[in-house]
Amino acid sequence: QNPVTLSDELLGWYDIHARIMPWRVPPQNRRAGQTPDPYRVWLSEVMLQQTTVVTVRDYFERFTARWPTVTDLARARDADVMGEWAGLGYYARARNLLKCARAVVADHDGAFPADHSVLLKLPGIGPYTAAAISSIAFDLPHAVLDGNVERVMARLHDIHTPLPDAKPLLMTQAEALTPQQRPGDYAQAVMDLGATICTPKSPACGICPWRAPCLARARGTAADLPRKTPK
Ligand code: ADE
Repeated sequence: QNPVTLSDELLGWYDIHARIMPWRVPPQNRRAGQTPDPYRVWLSEVMLQQTTVVTVRDYFERFTARWPTVTDLARARDADVMGEWAGLGYYARARNLLKCARAVVADHDGAFPADHSVLLKLPGIGPYTAAAISSIAFDLPHAVLDGNVERVMARLHDIHTPLPDAKPLLMTQAEALTPQQRPGDYAQAVMDLGATICTPKSPACGICPWRAPCLARARGTAADLPRKTPK
């Protein structure tokens, strides 16, 4: 099967099964022309680093109710932001959050730049977050490689090289599969597949949209992947 067919299969699944999240534009609305708010995409991605979707939801709602735009957040008092962040942990993230909001207002007229390399220069935005904002908010074809995506790629291609050594190869695979059409929906579709079907312990291969092309399923290795170098 060629890469176009693979991404189409997954996008068809996502059209039906996309998880509903407060920072997301559902695929039907996106098709109708609605675009995600880059501020909300950025905020959710920063919060989701090291924190689960379930926990992030409430924090995200409180933050965006209090500071609906990046300009509002940039004007906030540091202590108020740290107070709202309390409980999410990793407080350097909250400090960088404010620095980034202020840089977006000071240097980019209050609009997140629609460019991966420009995003990378902002405080607290590394390769993962830049790729997530580029794809999800701006529909640019950048591959997002988080733990879920690593697991899905390792299984789809039956890659036995342990993490972290396998990362460059998994990134190459993820990039090769990223479609030019609907890259934002595709990025979120792979994350949802990893979170709901291609789970770490007992993957639900029988209902997976990629069950036919998946090499690990064919070879019975899915539950053993990805391998990790022992600590
Ligand atoms: N984890 C990190 N970013 C995510 C997103 N946009 N959707 C679902 N899970 C995520």
